[in-house]
Amino acid sequence: MSLLSDIEPLKQSALAQLQAAPDLAALDQAKGAWIGPNGKFTALMKQLGTLAKEEKPAAGKLINAAKLELEAALAARRSELELAAALPDHPTDFTLPGRRRTLGRLHPLTQVTDDIVRAFRKIGFAVADGPEIEDEYHCFDALNTPADHPARDSQDTFYLATDTGAIPASPGAKCQGEGGRKPLLLRTHTSSVQIRVMKSQPPPVRIIVPGRVFRRDNADATHNPTFHQIEGLYVDRGVTVGDLKGTVEFVFRELMGSDVKIRFRPHYFSYTEPSYEIDFTNALVKKMGKDWLEIAGCGMVNPVVFENVGYDPEIWTGWAFGFGIERIAMLRYGINDIRLFYENDLRFLRQL
Ligand code: DAH
Repeated sequence: MSLLSDIEPLKQSALAQLQAAPDLAALDQAKGAWIGPNGKFTALMKQLGTLAKEEKPAAGKLINAAKLELEAALAARRSELELAAALPDHPTDFTLPGRRRTLGRLHPLTQVTDDIVRAFRKIGFAVADGPEIEDEYHCFDALNTPADHPARDSQDTFYLATDTGAIPASPGAKCQGEGGRKPLLLRTHTSSVQIRVMKSQPPPVRIIVPGRVFRRDNADATHNPTFHQIEGLYVDRGVTVGDLKGTVEFVFRELMGSDVKIRFRPHYFSYTEPSYEIDFTNALVKKMGKDWLEIAGCGMVNPVVFENVGYDPEIWTGWAFGFGIERIAMLRYGINDIRLFYENDLRFLRQL
């Protein structure tokens, strides 16, 4: 009765091999060798038919029990090996410091812009916006800027090759250049948004416009072909230069500290009358060896501009200003080269 006596030793060998399989591939191989279709244990079961009839029940029972045992051993070893494969090769040292994500931060120009906006919001100004691709009407004509002004020269301004007039002409045009097909250009200043806002709403107006502007300048320590400005416009009844000066002084003190002094110098801009340049000083400016730094242009809105947008200049008065954000950021952080803002060098940006 060799078949019955073969079962136990065969089972023991199979169990030993299954339990000793070093990895999942070896386990699958052992499974095939013993209980796969061509396995040794399977072969034993096939021999069951050759036994005498009275031997079959006992032998069948034994083989089935052995097979169950082998399958259980296979499953047990498989889950052991799967668990081992899922664990890291090296034990984890939970006392090591964690890996932190480095936190990003806002670009210094964004920080300064946000601070300026915050200061103006405190006194009731809203933020307005306009397109960077402009037409000559909004950038120049409506701002009373004559056709022979240098800013309108292609040496100074980026004109676009198309003249399809993608930006719709403002209704109620009175100026030369408005309506029809117009050359498009990259705006040279944010003052164009003054026109867009006044054309889109009745007075009073109290807005600031932070934005990107473009000029055909070669990049050097103080110039870049793109830079940023903030425009301000205030229109109401009975507005005075005193309101302008008080507002500018308030904002610069918020931004740069209470030792800030402001000075207005007569100047000329075609869209304001009278016009001024704003000089600024504080301890930092003195440290740079200067008495004053020129920081902005401003003035009382020229009545011609009011007429151009359909505001009655007999009723409405206002002031406007525009200044460069880079200039203020350079002052604030003590930076001597404007190009640093655009190079995205993390060694620079991480310091601010
Ligand atoms: N647009 C001028 C520039 O880019 C700055 C400026 C001057 C804006 C006087 C104004 C203003 O609103 O009234 O240099």
